[in-house]
Amino acid sequence: MATFIEKARSHFPSLQSGFIFADNAGGSQCAKYVVDRISDYLLNTNVQLGADYSVSVESTQRVASGAVATATLINAASPNEIAFGASSTLNVDNLARALEGDVRDDEEIIITGEHEANGGPWKKLAKRKGLDVKYWRPRVSSPNNPYSVVHEVHDLLPLITAKTRVIAFSACSNILGSIVPVKEVIAAARAKAKEVGTRNIEFSVDCVAYAPHRRINVRDWDVDYCVFSYYKVYGPHISALYARSSSLQNSLTPLTHHFLRVDDTSYKLQPGGPGYETVYGTTGVLEYLRALTPSGDLDDAFAAIAEHEQALVEPLLAYLLSQESRGVRIVGDERGGLSRAPTVSFVIVGERPIKSKEVVRAFDQKGGVGIRYGHFYAYTLVDELEPKLDIDDAVVRISLVHYNTVQEVEKIISILNEVLA
Ligand SMILES: Cc1ncc(COP(=O)(O)O)c(C=O)c1O
Repeated sequence: MATFIEKARSHFPSLQSGFIFADNAGGSQCAKYVVDRISDYLLNTNVQLGADYSVSVESTQRVASGAVATATLINAASPNEIAFGASSTLNVDNLARALEGDVRDDEEIIITGEHEANGGPWKKLAKRKGLDVKYWRPRVSSPNNPYSVVHEVHDLLPLITAKTRVIAFSACSNILGSIVPVKEVIAAARAKAKEVGTRNIEFSVDCVAYAPHRRINVRDWDVDYCVFSYYKVYGPHISALYARSSSLQNSLTPLTHHFLRVDDTSYKLQPGGPGYETVYGTTGVLEYLRALTPSGDLDDAFAAIAEHEQALVEPLLAYLLSQESRGVRIVGDERGGLSRAPTVSFVIVGERPIKSKEVVRAFDQKGGVGIRYGHFYAYTLVDELEPKLDIDDAVVRISLVHYNTVQEVEKIISILNEVLA
């Protein structure tokens, strides 16, 4: 019987080349089920939606199945809570504009300095309405490493006042790689909001760097809005935005043409149609995840993913920690364990510093491995690290997912060892 990793890799023809894809937080490989659906859609049912002729009926059903599959994937109560957009950046911007009418001028927004996609739209909303913005900042978790920062819920709670309207944070940072306990954060923040008499606190959670590694569970989390990008979850370039039905009813104003009947569904958040073939293609992600374990159960699939990814991240973290005296500093939590995704960032400082750009150049010259350096749009987070880093050089990031192998990690470590020599 095929092992988990053999089964997983067999769904990605690009992996057969032997190239080590280690920039997955930038974008993952696309599963064959997804590609097959996209090409089948374009070759056989590429017509406008909503007409009564047979091909249009089929096309309409196919596109509708994208929201059904996504609702299943993230445990939403209904497909009417799912909107699609070209990117998560666009989706959060749409969300902030749709929420604008329900935000009062004296209210406040709390954001983090993580990926700008879930910061910028809220900062722009605050500017338009003259609201205050507060930052939930991460704190250093290891005394020997000033870059070992993590977000702790007890740093968020004191920021919440009677005026807090929105809290926007990431379920996992695309640089730090720690898995944030979203359910606990939201429960604690709601309790504090109740205590201080907040009118209507809502949460916008960026799940883009989380979705490839753990299952999003919107009902369990009690979250109002969340977003993720399918192109990082083995699918096509399209983003899904979840909005809870009570928020669709009570908080959001439609962004659509005035004559369209959108009722209280996610169409409110979808001005213009998303790419039909990519929406249909997303259904292949669910099918892929179900194919990963004998039970076909999504929770089992993500448990297997988490277990395999532990085997990838532990040796990488251990190696980087062993190079502390050489000046290697992990940017993010140094501890392994289940609260760590295999997204590992680091810098090389000290007496013999090496620029992030040079580390990546050495890999590129060697060939066969794709890694990257930069701030990865988590500009504020990187810019606020102390001692300061050159923001343009920022960090080296090695980002793995479950289709990477332990042998690939060993190869990456051996190249790093040559670079550090
Ligand atoms: C954590 C995080 N949030 C948001 C985004 C933005 O996603 P998109 O490219 O779909 O706008 C990214 C993309 O890298 C990301 O890593």
